[in-house]
Amino acid sequence: MTVASAQPYRRSGGALFCEGVPLADIASRFGTPTYVYSRSAIEAAFAAYADALRGRPSLVCYAMKANSNLAVLNLLARSGSGFDIVSGGELARVIAAGGDPRKVVFSGVGKTAAEIAQALAADILCFNLESVPELEMVERVAVRMGRRARISVRVNPDVDPKTHPYISTGLKSNKFGVAYADTLPLYRRAASLSHIEIVGIDCHIGSRINDVAPYLEAADRLLDIVDVLAGDGIELAHIDFGGGLDIRYRDETPPAAAELIGALAARVDRRGHGGKTLMLEPGRSIVGPAGALLTRVNIVKTGAEKNFLIVDAAMNDLLRPALYDAWMDVQPVQPHGGLPRTYDIVGPICESGDWLARQRQIAAEPGDLLAVLGAGAYGMSMASNYNSRGRAAEVMVDGERVYEVRRRETVEELFALESTLP
Ligand code: LLP
Repeated sequence: MTVASAQPYRRSGGALFCEGVPLADIASRFGTPTYVYSRSAIEAAFAAYADALRGRPSLVCYAMKANSNLAVLNLLARSGSGFDIVSGGELARVIAAGGDPRKVVFSGVGKTAAEIAQALAADILCFNLESVPELEMVERVAVRMGRRARISVRVNPDVDPKTHPYISTGLKSNKFGVAYADTLPLYRRAASLSHIEIVGIDCHIGSRINDVAPYLEAADRLLDIVDVLAGDGIELAHIDFGGGLDIRYRDETPPAAAELIGALAARVDRRGHGGKTLMLEPGRSIVGPAGALLTRVNIVKTGAEKNFLIVDAAMNDLLRPALYDAWMDVQPVQPHGGLPRTYDIVGPICESGDWLARQRQIAAEPGDLLAVLGAGAYGMSMASNYNSRGRAAEVMVDGERVYEVRRRETVEELFALESTLP
């Protein structure tokens, strides 16, 4: 059994490395800010899921919204991963990266008719439906194209994952999923449509989950529906429990993938559904620990009440602190002899919300390199061009080698699609 790799970021002689490469070398070769990913960490994280599922029908669909770089997708596709997508753009990426559309599930509350047609043409595994109007839209498009659409219903199990309100999705008050009481009528409606094939059931209760219990609660509620459907003669092929496992940003102690899967599989087996394909949609836990954002200190500013390290990465590169008040670990890349002081680590963007870390004890001076760890998930994928800042470069480390997997955007590329009036 493959064990999820130890921290891919380690110190040697005081300097911070990703696998066998000093981060300082990456900064001098590719500049800053740059996202760095560890190939072995991504592969080990995926293997932790795949190994725990071995021996039973299963499919892991990596939730690519966490990080959709083609190199990341390609490594996962080569490992046998499927993909959880939420847009036509993500489907195009899966195909461009060599992923198998037959292993794609399409999530999201607002799929358009054009996206549904694109996914039907690609023959994806299944649409995870979230409403009656969406079911009807899928049927209409399928009729027009003369194809059958495989569907699953995303049930809102109304369980509290006890996470940040912006990322809990399985509560009654959320826009996601089909209300529990509406699920059976939706399945029955689906069963009556000529171009719909019912294949599964799914849920996703939230992100940054640190406990197995809410998953089991959701599992029981899903399995209750599976039982009723079976009584109606509707046999499902798969049960998809969504994503959501947290990673260790600071002192979190999320269950390992094997622990979650062990508990879910035991529950599914006990309730007599062990023959069904067990699916999961992990995002963060596959790529989060593999990534770091490398940035350079530009200015050290001593303020009236606070001291600031103004670095060359900003909220446009890494939005999580600004948006969720997220705590991310910031580490000096090289040892520094100076005296640590307390700093807010901020970017150059014209917003007070532009910060990466607050009140950190660190010794640093202009020119020093810092690494924001745990930045592989929802880092680059949420980056923008705010303040006309080109997005960071991305590199993948493989042992002693470094591959540039996305070059830095140039300013000309930022306005290439714009034009002035005649
Ligand atoms: N499946 C569905 C239907 C989802 O909506 C999501 C994430 C996942 C799977 C993957 O969840 P994960 O394993 O990554 O927790 N931007 C936020 C996280 C938003 C998560 C949205 N949905 C953040 O940076 O914390």
